[in-house]
Amino acid sequence: EAAEKEGYAHFMIKEINEQPKGVSETLNRRLNKEGNIELDSIKITKEDLDKIDKVYIVACGTAYHAGLVGKYAIEKYAKIPVICDIASEFRYSDPFIDENTLFIAISQSGETLDTLAALREAKRKGARILSVVNVVGSSVARESHDVFYTWAGPEIAVASTKAYTTQLTAMYMIALHMAITKESMSKEKYDSIIEELKNMPEKIQKILDDYVIAQHLADTQFNNESVFFMGRGLDINAAYEGSLKLKEISYINSFAIAAGELKHGTIALIEDDTLVIALATQDRLYEKMLSNIKEVKARGAYVVAIAKEGNKEIEKSADTVIYIPDTMDELTPILSVVPQQLFSYYMAVARGCDVDKPRNLAKSVTVE
Ligand code: G6P
Repeated sequence: EAAEKEGYAHFMIKEINEQPKGVSETLNRRLNKEGNIELDSIKITKEDLDKIDKVYIVACGTAYHAGLVGKYAIEKYAKIPVICDIASEFRYSDPFIDENTLFIAISQSGETLDTLAALREAKRKGARILSVVNVVGSSVARESHDVFYTWAGPEIAVASTKAYTTQLTAMYMIALHMAITKESMSKEKYDSIIEELKNMPEKIQKILDDYVIAQHLADTQFNNESVFFMGRGLDINAAYEGSLKLKEISYINSFAIAAGELKHGTIALIEDDTLVIALATQDRLYEKMLSNIKEVKARGAYVVAIAKEGNKEIEKSADTVIYIPDTMDELTPILSVVPQQLFSYYMAVARGCDVDKPRNLAKSVTVE
């Protein structure tokens, strides 16, 4: 096992560090000589897309969080309405699915029972099934019409990290491919997003090189028994994943809330020194996030903001700022999740938790 960890203390931190490679492989293996996306053997024609009137994305856990970002990307780029659902809810909700539905299952293992059952249900109702899977030849992959494999490599730690960033990459690529095929996006825009996706491995690496920031924060905050995450737009989706990471490996009571919802209940829980992680990477929503940061600060919270490099102004409002490299608003989750993964990891280490095998959890849930 020590050899497999290649000098890292845990599989989780090894896998966090493998993200530049995973994202790069997931992307570059499907860019042709002209720099355009080729989705393996997946053939989605303009006629197919003209027929599709809705997309369902279904998954569990971290894969579901990747689905939420996928929904945003497909709606924004390909202009098709998307419903993103948790597999265990989808199965029992009598979903409105027919042959004009594209059903996307996301699963690292490809063996999650609820995801597999949801896929079978959608298939029975006539949907076209595309899956985004990491494990080659897994059940979800075998039962789908089309498979897009992520190139994360084997993920051993129970807490999923590199699977998530490669799933995000896959979802952006699927959305871009749909958009260019459907002609709902200009070639210039398409090229510019692909160019920026190509920069992601290097930008992730930059965050990884600065791991001491998250480590130091964890060393001063590990005694907290509750932590709140907040954000707006895509930031809340990345915050859901950050919060899940923290609770699953450090056993800290944590949840993520859309910042605009704070005043409808959660703000009652904020008191002196409550730790709040505020994601503020979306230019369009930045002013709104600043007000939310001020609201929780006024109630005594200790605010750690995650913001884009160059945003010095936020230092006036937050207690600590963790910067991610500048990028397009719609791609930030690939970067903003990384300091959150590092923070969770170092929190769990500081609390003496079994990082790779947290209590009560399984890597793949193959029972109901
Ligand atoms: C388990 C794992 C999670 C994972 C979820 C879905 O709960 O602990 O890390 O996100 O299952 O797994 P899948 O293999 O379908 O992505």
